[in-house]
Parts: sequence; structure tokens; C-alpha cells
Amino acid sequence: MEEVSSLTPFKAVINWPQAEGVCPTHGPSTALLHPRSGRSEWYCGDCALEAKAKEVEEARKRERKSTLDAAACLPERYANERFEVATAAQKEVRLTVRAFRDLIAAGGQWAALVLVGGTGTGKTLLACELARSVIDNLGLSVRYCTANQMIAEIQAAYSTEGKTEEGELLRFTSYDLLVLDEVDAIRDSQSGNAKLLLTELVNRRYNAHKPVVAISNQPLEKLAKFVGDRVFSRLQENRLLCVHDWADQRPLSAS
Ligand SMILES: Nc1ncnc2c1ncn2[C@@H]1O[C@H](COP(=O)(O)OP(=O)(O)OP(=O)(O)O)[C@@H](O)[C@H]1O
Ligand SMILES: [Mg+2]
Ligand SMILES: [Zn+2]
Repeated sequence: MEEVSSLTPFKAVINWPQAEGVCPTHGPSTALLHPRSGRSEWYCGDCALEAKAKEVEEARKRERKSTLDAAACLPERYANERFEVATAAQKEVRLTVRAFRDLIAAGGQWAALVLVGGTGTGKTLLACELARSVIDNLGLSVRYCTANQMIAEIQAAYSTEGKTEEGELLRFTSYDLLVLDEVDAIRDSQSGNAKLLLTELVNRRYNAHKPVVAISNQPLEKLAKFVGDRVFSRLQENRLLCVHDWADQRPLSAS
């Protein structure tokens, strides 16, 4: 702020004081000093508008992030954990996940990230880290759930007023990224159309160019048997694979 003049009475129709000044960015301007505006000296109106716009934009971003956070349903327990890299194989899966995130960032294409491995090998942890980054860095919507949770949510529509199976399928198709944990745990025996719904959903996302993460304790060779050929075939297209072939990393409880 330079060359701030002293307040002069405003001579026009309205009876506000005005001040002249020069902004290094926007040049000379006249500021109206509304008695109730809290302003008593010259300011650059353009700078003030820009600052306000930035504030509004930041508030909007915060609001969007909290909406995305709420919709993602990321398990609380992974919020403060980081997937540590101690071996070459772990480095490779981390890089693979980064490559998958780059595919998501590029947008508009089907891609499948398949994480397979034994219990406690950090599959869910790594997928949650990816989900976090997709929300925070790409500003995209994510939903995490087990495959069984998703099926249960869709089936709940049958007995919930105002909800329909179609609406639920549309919802699960609409997320920019869907993380399906324990995808191998779906069984037709547990609920008649579970596999059908999984197939329908994966097919809809495939057709809509919406990527998925599929997590399985079964090795890739056996996955088709658990998810069905049609789901498996789609998971093979534009697929990135993380094989967590190391020992259980779950911390032992102190006792
Ligand atoms: N690379 C790692 N770095 C740090 N902690 C790890 C790592 N891998 C596993 N862990 C620890 O093990 C715990 C279990 O990991 P996680 O739940 O992701 O395993 P999982 O492969 O999904 O197992 P499951 O198949 O039983 O679901 C994590 O909460 C974390 O404490
Ligand atoms: Mg898990
Ligand atoms: Zn200015």
C-alpha cells in the first residue's frame, strides 16, 4: 500500500468518506469507507475481493473434503498408520499403488488394482492410504467397504422406503474410486443374488470408466473361482497387481 491520502469527504450522491491510494498490483483506486465497514483508511478493493474469493474457495474445499471424508467410510484404525517399506517387494507394491493413483489422476479410464496376500500383510492399510491420497490430493470421491458390506447395503434397499436397488447400484457406480475389500469372501449361499450384484456393479463401473481396487486373501489364480469369471475378466483389464507375499505384520499384543 502506497500514497494513502488522508480521508476526504465523499462528494457524490452518497455521503461516505473516500480515500485515494495506489495498489502495487492493481494501480490507483478510490476506496469508499463505509462507516460500518470497519475501514478507516484506504484499501485496494480488488485485493480485498481477491482475498475474499480465496477465503470462499478455501471454505468450499474444506467443505468438499469433509463431505468426501464422510462418504469414504475409511476404517478409523488405519488413519494414523503408514504402510512402511522395508523390503524390495514392499517397495514394488507401493510403486504399483502410486502408478494406479496416476491412472486415476489421468481420469476417464477403467483400471483395476488387485491386492492379494495373506492376512496381516497390509493390504487394507495400503488401500486406505491410497484412498486418503485420492481424496486429499486429487479431490475425488472414494468409497471403501468390504464386498459383503456393499452387497448388504444394496440389499437393504429392498426393505427401505425411498431406496431402490437401482439407486444403490447407481450410488456405488458414482464414486470416482471404489475399494472393495475381502472381495473373495462373497458367497452366493449367504444371500441369493450376492454374486449377481457384484457382477452387475463391477460391470457398471467398467462401462463407466470408473476404477476399482479389489482386495483378496486368495491368490490371483484362485480369484475367479470366488468372484466369478465375468468379474475376474474385467479385473484383468488394465490391471495393476500387488502381491503381498510376506509374513503377517500385525503387531503382536503385549501380554
Ligand atoms: N507395511 C506395513 N507397515 C506398517 N504396518 C503394517 C504393514 N503391514 C501391516 N502392518 C500392520 O499390520 C496391521 C494389519 O494390516 P492390514 O489390516 O492392512 O492387513 P490385511 O492384509 O488387510 O489383513 P487381512 O487379510 O487379515 O484383512 C496394520 O494395521 C499394521 O499395524
Ligand atoms: Mg484387510
Ligand atoms: Zn490490489
